[in-house]
Amino acid sequence: MKDTTTSNTPRALSKRRRMKAMAWSFLFIVLSAMILPTASYLVSGEPAHAQVTNDQNQRANFWRAVREGAPGYSSVSGPEAGVFINNGGQNWRQFRNGIIANYGGWAIVIGLGVIALFFLVRGRIKIDEEASGMSVPRWKTWERVMHWYTAILFVLLTISGLSMLFGRAVLIPLLGAKGFSAWANLSINVHNYIGPFFAIGVFAMLLFWVKHNIPTGTDMAWFAKGGGIFSKAHPSAGKANGGEKVWFWIVIFVGLVAVCGSGLVLIGWMAQLGFVDSTRGTMQLAHQVHAIASIAWIIVFFGHAYIGTLGTEGALEGMTTGRVSVEWAKQHHDLWYEEVKDQAGIAEDTTSAPAPSTAAS
Ligand code: HEM
Repeated sequence: MKDTTTSNTPRALSKRRRMKAMAWSFLFIVLSAMILPTASYLVSGEPAHAQVTNDQNQRANFWRAVREGAPGYSSVSGPEAGVFINNGGQNWRQFRNGIIANYGGWAIVIGLGVIALFFLVRGRIKIDEEASGMSVPRWKTWERVMHWYTAILFVLLTISGLSMLFGRAVLIPLLGAKGFSAWANLSINVHNYIGPFFAIGVFAMLLFWVKHNIPTGTDMAWFAKGGGIFSKAHPSAGKANGGEKVWFWIVIFVGLVAVCGSGLVLIGWMAQLGFVDSTRGTMQLAHQVHAIASIAWIIVFFGHAYIGTLGTEGALEGMTTGRVSVEWAKQHHDLWYEEVKDQAGIAEDTTSAPAPSTAAS
């Protein structure tokens, strides 16, 4: 006979209860694992994964707003201090390093090439008549000081400006990163401090030289004959010929208005005077105008410097000694020569003491 007493012993009973408790616990855990995630329905009426998506959306919306330049709070003061990310900055950087630097660099190289080609084809424009030794006063001392003051500052601004624009591509390979860093630091300081003094020089040119740069019918006839550059004719001109007037107005509109104006925006003066705000967008636009107009101006300047030195015999003397030969005056500025011919004196006198007849200049 089977002994049943052993299966009902307290020991066997507690073992069965333990097994039962384990089974129920296991079932409870599995069911909890299945049911608990749906508990969010009871609380919010939405599934838990929907909350995660909403959280992500809110975060995405937040960062989208930040990227789009929506201002937040910042304890830093100043315009747009609360704007964390400036998308326009990336566009500006690409435009500056890509289009401006590449096309600008090529435009300067091509401009120099055209001048060199012109010199090879046309050669120097010589004075036709035999030199008589007589000269007439052309530029007064203060005019020459004004011209060379502006020209020297222009050259310094050109060197420092181009160093900043093309330094990464051209100077780092030559000077190394540290050398370029020191040079770039010097360049930006030279550029920023000299800029306003240069603008004063250009403004003085506008004030004092505008009177002989007003376009007239004579200039149209001068252009119709191509300035006599290729035909070797000598079309009539007053104190300034058509070509010089074009240069003068480029100096005023491209130089004074666009380059100097945008430069004064960049160093913050225009904002201080209340003409513009000093937001990043204004600065980016000002920088683009400044860089493009400066490159255009530099290219035309090369042409001016060439015509004033190598290109035309006798022109530089006017801006260095103040006088030009009678033959040069008759050939290039016949109408003006008629006005000043009574002041003609011996040319040699101008390098030592002025001739008595020049006192009026
Ligand atoms: C090294 C560079 C330069 C050289 C060699 C040079 C040379 C000359 C010469 C020789 C003249 C006299 C032309 C004449 O008598 O008809 C002249 C006039 C002039 N230059 Fe320059 N120049 C230089 C730079 C500049 C710069 C940077 C500017 C402007 C920012 C400038 C603006 C002018 C103006 C406005 C005139 C007078 C034109 C007129 O009133 O019609 N020059 N230059």
